[in-house]
Amino acid sequence: MCGIVGIVGQTPVAPLIVDALKRLEYRGYDSAGVATVEKGELSRRRAEGKLVNLERRLEAEPLSGTIGIGHTRWATHGVPNETNAHPHFADEVAIVHNGIIENFAELRDELKRDGYVFQSQTDTEVVAHLIARELRGGAQPTEAAHNALKRLQGAFALAIMFKGDDDLIIGARNGPPLAVGHGQGEMYLGSDAIALAPFTNSITYLEDGDWAVVRRNKVQIFDIDGNPVKRQRQRSVGTSYLVDKGNHRHFMEKEIHEQPEVISHTLAHYLDFTSGKTREMDLPFDFAKLDRIAISACGTAYLAGLIGKYWFERYARLPVDIDIASEFRYREMPLGKKSAALFVSQSGETADTLASLRYCRSEGVPIGAIVNVRESTIARESHVTFPTLAGPEIGVASTKAFTCQLSVLASLAVRAAAERGTIDEGEEKRLVRQLSEAPRFASQVLKLEEQIEKVARELAKVNHVLYLGRDTSYPLALEGALKLKEISYIHAEGYAAGELKHGPIALIDENMPVIVIAPHDRIFEKTVSNMQEVAARGGRIILITDEAGAARAGIETFETIVLPDTPEFIAPIVYALPVQLLAYYTAVQMGTDVDQPRNLAKSVTVE
Ligand code: AGP
Repeated sequence: MCGIVGIVGQTPVAPLIVDALKRLEYRGYDSAGVATVEKGELSRRRAEGKLVNLERRLEAEPLSGTIGIGHTRWATHGVPNETNAHPHFADEVAIVHNGIIENFAELRDELKRDGYVFQSQTDTEVVAHLIARELRGGAQPTEAAHNALKRLQGAFALAIMFKGDDDLIIGARNGPPLAVGHGQGEMYLGSDAIALAPFTNSITYLEDGDWAVVRRNKVQIFDIDGNPVKRQRQRSVGTSYLVDKGNHRHFMEKEIHEQPEVISHTLAHYLDFTSGKTREMDLPFDFAKLDRIAISACGTAYLAGLIGKYWFERYARLPVDIDIASEFRYREMPLGKKSAALFVSQSGETADTLASLRYCRSEGVPIGAIVNVRESTIARESHVTFPTLAGPEIGVASTKAFTCQLSVLASLAVRAAAERGTIDEGEEKRLVRQLSEAPRFASQVLKLEEQIEKVARELAKVNHVLYLGRDTSYPLALEGALKLKEISYIHAEGYAAGELKHGPIALIDENMPVIVIAPHDRIFEKTVSNMQEVAARGGRIILITDEAGAARAGIETFETIVLPDTPEFIAPIVYALPVQLLAYYTAVQMGTDVDQPRNLAKSVTVE
């Protein structure tokens, strides 16, 4: 998604804005721009592609203003080119925007009838003209902006500047996040605290409907009706250090390798390794009294929730309804008095997940959220948050957040089982002990990189891949396919192995590698028969299993990746790593932009 930065500063702000935009690159973008107010005039530089192109423009034609706004654009309306890059101008108004103005066509037609001429194909430019028209009608800048905001429908985070006023930026939020940063004689606006970390960690998050009048020495925040509101000023956590790749080629590679460490940090938050039991938690619901949990999320986070369903139902005997958030939010699932809802989100800003959460709130259901960004909107709107302690995840493809989400879900499932009495203390301690071994197993898997890279070189030659798994390996098969397609652009599908004969087997031939995720567990033999069906049709099998599985597979595989013998309970956490590494090395072979794959964004803050 787009990134927004604004600075009302003391020194030339353009280079500072570009540095801040670099910290938002992980959100995904395809053009960028900066505008400043200098000597009473609006000036701007914009460039297609990466920020390095904008820096070149600024080197050639510097901007010296001490107030400015900047933007990284992820195209929604209009192709990614310089004309459509933000900031957009209309008369004396400059604006940057993250989100989608859903009624932009109607507004554009109205403005065209009033004689306004549009330079771009974007929905954003409509807002600039709306404000310009208010100014022509005699409104002051803050009133003009407020009147325009009241006309907008849809999701937006905005930063607005005015020719002739070098001490005013107006920020507005309805959906995508926007934070005010408090400095010394300077003020900042940013899409998140990471962007503002070089300047300040004193942050105020705007709420939906808020708009802020930001001047060097004063910030006033109002609601959409123009009433002054108070928003909490807080210290942002863990964002003061600059996130970098260390000695890795990509953030994704670094984040895959951080997993043993961050899984153990996360587990320590939920498990008491001294008592060997799960920690007490102050919850807005009683696991013992629930008759079901509704889980909703998107993408990889959804697949984590899908594995969590197996665990809650198997160990806590607690029924789980799970759905992807874009369906959940419109399904109007009936939620009774003994329901609770659980949302999983790395960014904590995913629009569909947030909308599903708000549906559950409207149903009066207690809400928990498993998030990696503690100050995120989803975190703030939940009754209880279950943090993943993965640290900032920069690579668009979610890896360490996924295994940390699984660590939280596994811990919660054991806690729920203990509170519901479906396991005794001995079983609780056994499961906690197994969980505590996950980081060690994960670090052992990382030693298989060379073999996995070799397999990836073969995958890079094909156009289609099928992933198969059963039980908790089925969502992993879906995750493997998602990882591969989203960073290598190779088409891949994940399937329940038991479904092979119900259609996908028609795909099998020597050109369709089949990746089978199958630890040697109680249903391993069932998957063996699926592999035999694939082998009988010339399919090339890449088996991910353990020693016992390798010994008993009984078929000729193209490659067998042998993992440590892992307890069934924690297998999904451990088996996620080879799946991630396979996608990573295939993408490296393909030469794609591993950390910022085409068309994708790290946080999907629009529908
Ligand atoms: C994961 O590799 C994808 N980039 C994507 O599916 C992601 O998991 C999804 O957009 C949900 O994001 P969230 O966890 O921030 O809500």
